[in-house]
Order: sequence, then C-alpha cells, then structure tokens
Amino acid sequence: MSSNEKRGEAVDLSHHLSKVGKARQTSPLKGLHKYMGKPGLISLAGGLPNAAYFPFSSVSGDILAPDSFPLETDSKESSLSWFWRLFSRTDKERTSTFTVGKYSKHPGDLDLENGLQYGLATGQPKLNEIIREFVGKVFQPGYSNWTTLVHTGNTDAWFKTIQTILNPGDGLIVSEWTYPSAMAGAQPFGIIPVPVGMDSEGMSSISLRQTLSEWDESARGIPRPHVLYTVPIGQNPTGTTMGIQRKKEIYDICVEYDIIIVEDDPYYFLQQGKYIPKSDRVVDSATDDEAFIASLAPSYLKIDYQGRVIRLDTFSKTVCPGSRLGWFTCNPMFAERLERTAETSSQAPSGFTQIYVASLLLKWQYEGYLRWLKALRLQYKQRRDYFLDCFADEFHLQKKFSTEGYTAGTHLYHASLKPRRSFVPLSEKDNAYSKPLFSFVPPSSGMFLWIELHLEEHPAFSSLGYKALEMKLWTEIAEAGVLFAPGAMFFATPVEDDTLGHGHFRISFSNSTPEDLKKAVSTFSTVLRKFMKN
Ligand SMILES: Cc1ncc(COP(=O)(O)O)c(C=O)c1O
Repeated sequence: MSSNEKRGEAVDLSHHLSKVGKARQTSPLKGLHKYMGKPGLISLAGGLPNAAYFPFSSVSGDILAPDSFPLETDSKESSLSWFWRLFSRTDKERTSTFTVGKYSKHPGDLDLENGLQYGLATGQPKLNEIIREFVGKVFQPGYSNWTTLVHTGNTDAWFKTIQTILNPGDGLIVSEWTYPSAMAGAQPFGIIPVPVGMDSEGMSSISLRQTLSEWDESARGIPRPHVLYTVPIGQNPTGTTMGIQRKKEIYDICVEYDIIIVEDDPYYFLQQGKYIPKSDRVVDSATDDEAFIASLAPSYLKIDYQGRVIRLDTFSKTVCPGSRLGWFTCNPMFAERLERTAETSSQAPSGFTQIYVASLLLKWQYEGYLRWLKALRLQYKQRRDYFLDCFADEFHLQKKFSTEGYTAGTHLYHASLKPRRSFVPLSEKDNAYSKPLFSFVPPSSGMFLWIELHLEEHPAFSSLGYKALEMKLWTEIAEAGVLFAPGAMFFATPVEDDTLGHGHFRISFSNSTPEDLKKAVSTFSTVLRKFMKN
C-alpha cells in the first residue's frame, strides 16, 4: 500500500478474546490514572511513595556512538581482521554520556520523579513516543489505528498474549519446527500445538491451507485453531527468512479462516541475506536508511489491513537481553486487553530500564538507531560467514538444490569428511569420506545454524535408530567440550516416533570468539569421524 493511500481502521476481532482476556477489569486503582495528568489536581488517592525519598538523585550512563561498528567490509582487510579488531578491543570506544536527574528542567523531559514512580502499563510516554515513531517508519502497519505498548521482552509478551486470546483446549498453529520456550509457555494452559509443514521460507502456505481446509473437529478432538504463532525471520531453529509474498499468502488464509497471527520477531534486524562462499564474496557497502529498510523482509504488520496481527518486538537482540524490554504493536482492542493484563502482573517494565533505553534512543535519535541496526546486521553476517567458512575448511561441502521437506526451494549444503593427512590409505569401505554425514541450509537471518544429521550412515543405525544416535553424538560432542542444542526439543509436538524430530542440532554463532568457533567446528569433525566408525 502506498503511503498516500488511506488506510482503514482495524475490524472488530473481539470474538478472539479468551475467557480470561474478556474477564479482566481495569485494576481498580489504575483506573484513577486518567485524572493524574490534570493540571492543579491534588491527588491523595494512590499509594505513591514520595519521590524525595527515592535514594537516586540521578542516573547516568556512557553510550557507545551509533557508528561504533562499520557499515562496510574493507576489501584490503584479510577476511578475519575485522574479527580480531572486534575482540582485541584495541579500538578505543567512543561514547557519550547522559544523565537523568530527579526533577526535569523542561516539561516532557525524562526525570526520575516520574520514571521511577508507579507508571502506566503502556510505558513511559517518552519511550512510547519513540517506539511509535519507529514502528510507523520501519514497519509501516497497513491500518490506521495501530497501537503500541511496552512489555518486558517477547517471552513475557507471548505469555500475556496466551492469556488474552487462548482458552484451554484451543489449538495453536505453529511451524513443525518451532521455538520450544513458546511451546513451554503455552502447554500448561492446555493449549495444543498444531504443526504445519515448512519449506525454505518457513511455514508453508500450502500446508497451512490443507490443515485448515481438512480440519475435522471430531477426529482432532478440538475446534479449528484461531491463533497462529510464527517466528518469520531467523526462524528459530531453522534460520529461514519469510518474504512478503509468502506472508501475503498466509495472511490471506488467516483472513479467510479468521485467525490471529502472533508475530514473534526478535531477529528482524539480523537479516543477513544469502551466504556466499569466501572465494566469491564481494565487499559489503553502506546503504542509506530507505534502502536499508527496503532491504528487510517486511513485517506482517505491513500487509495487516484488518488489525489481526499481534507483533512482538524486543530490545533483547538489538540493545541487550538484560534490559527486559520490548513492545507490542496491535489493534487498540487487543492493546487495551493486554494493558489490563499488564496492570495486574508486571504493571510496567522497570523504570530504570525504560529510562536507560529511552535515554539511549533519545541520544541516538531515529537515524542513530538505524545506523546501529545496519552495523549490527553486518556484524552478525560476518559472524555467520566466518562460521560457515570454518565448516567449508573442515568438511567437503557439496551444494544441491532441495525439493523436499523443510529445505524445499533452496540450496542445501551436504557435508562429508575431508580426509585428514594420514599415511594410512583410505579403505574402500570407509564411506564416511564420500557420503554426506550432515546437511544444512545456510541461515539467512538470526543467530543459528541448523544441521540435519544423516544418522542412517552410522553402522549401528538399524539397532539404535535416530533418537538414541542423536543423543549419543550430542553427548560425545558435549564431553569433548562443545555444547550444541539437540534438535528434538525444537519439534513442535513431542513424539515417540523415532523417525520424527530427531537427528538435528541447533548451533549458535552469535556469542563466541573466532578461535572458539573454529575450535568447535574442528571438535565436531573429530568427534563425528570417530562416531561414524562405531
Ligand atoms: C523466537 C524467540 N522468541 C522470544 C525470545 C526471547 O525474547 P526476549 O528476550 O525478548 O524474552 C527468543 C530468544 O531467544 C526467541 O528466539
């Protein structure tokens, strides 16, 4: 939709509220808040501690310059020098300082008197203003009366969403591989995951339509689901990125079947694009803000003309997870219910957090934050590339187009062992050197590499099967000093069937030194060599 086109308002979706979501009343005391800003009001109603007794007279911090990390790779640098610079910390950090005092000098400025007081569940007004501007410019929602309100991270946001729109016994549409913490949040409420097939862009619209159109309530034992949970960018665990065309297809199906989409999108700004092997790689160059935004796969918000998307954003991956801060973007009816839920649980994210993050964003301004995000994307891209280069050094990688399963529609890399220098000639029977032992699709966003093990090549496969072999290999790698996440935990529904959900690892490249990343790949290779022989 062009920016000149008039956007309509959200449609009425209140029939999606859960029993709990509907039943929440305004917290009796919070209802008084609407009078609070009235000039001249003498409020004797609340239990507000007097700000004079807050033992903080100011808070301050040093903030990195938004251009602390480069926007371009340097063609003259060796492929690793950026990495060594990053970790050697020889570059002096450039910072600026902010201070927030107890009482503001100008109306509307941040201060501790209000910032550390009981506050609105929607968030401190200044922070909400910044978030709103950001959502409007970056995500460009497709309807007019979208609303934002803060939460304490996407984990909390999902928990509040479950309570607001899901009843015990409801089905929840998810990808067949999905984020296990989201499932763990829903499961105790009696919510039943309904897995849908995937391909190389994440959830398959064909599989979604099939699931919904063939829904047989008596065979399934539950009504057709009315909520879909998705991690469309840097899908956890598979690392896929869903483009706008697929999102439109899924959105249209959700309109047809009246389904609410919960878009849990922590990796949105870590869209690294295609992996290009070292030999063909070209330098990355800077882009302007508009080109940067246009280069990111749009959010579901952009095509949401009805207000049926509840988007969860978090500062965890772009600022720091310890901030425990993020925000919802959704239609005003859901926002009001979520606000009521927050009033009786978290009340609001910590005042300190809100002050720190608002100060950061006020200092950087919108342009500075975008500058930071552009560089962040490049940092993770370089990490991803370096990590996959380590695999290319250690294994023989063969690229093949996949037409099947959750990798369908893209190139898969099949990895087999490279002979290590040895005086012992390779035996004919030693098929580990020729047959792929695992495969992967290079992740295009996020923090994880997802590999599928070809455990059928193991000599004891017929007696042990997938499940036991996955755990055996995982244990051997862990004992050799490297921890991967076993794949089975990412399967949407716990299964006893040995052939389903087993034979995968999720491996993170986000938080280790280059030496450790390289060592981890080498250890994996050593363990795998031994493992495949017995
Ligand atoms: C898909 C997904 N959702 C939510 C989270 C947690 O986000 P937060 O730190 O905002 O609670 C993660 C973190 O790993 C994640 O991968």
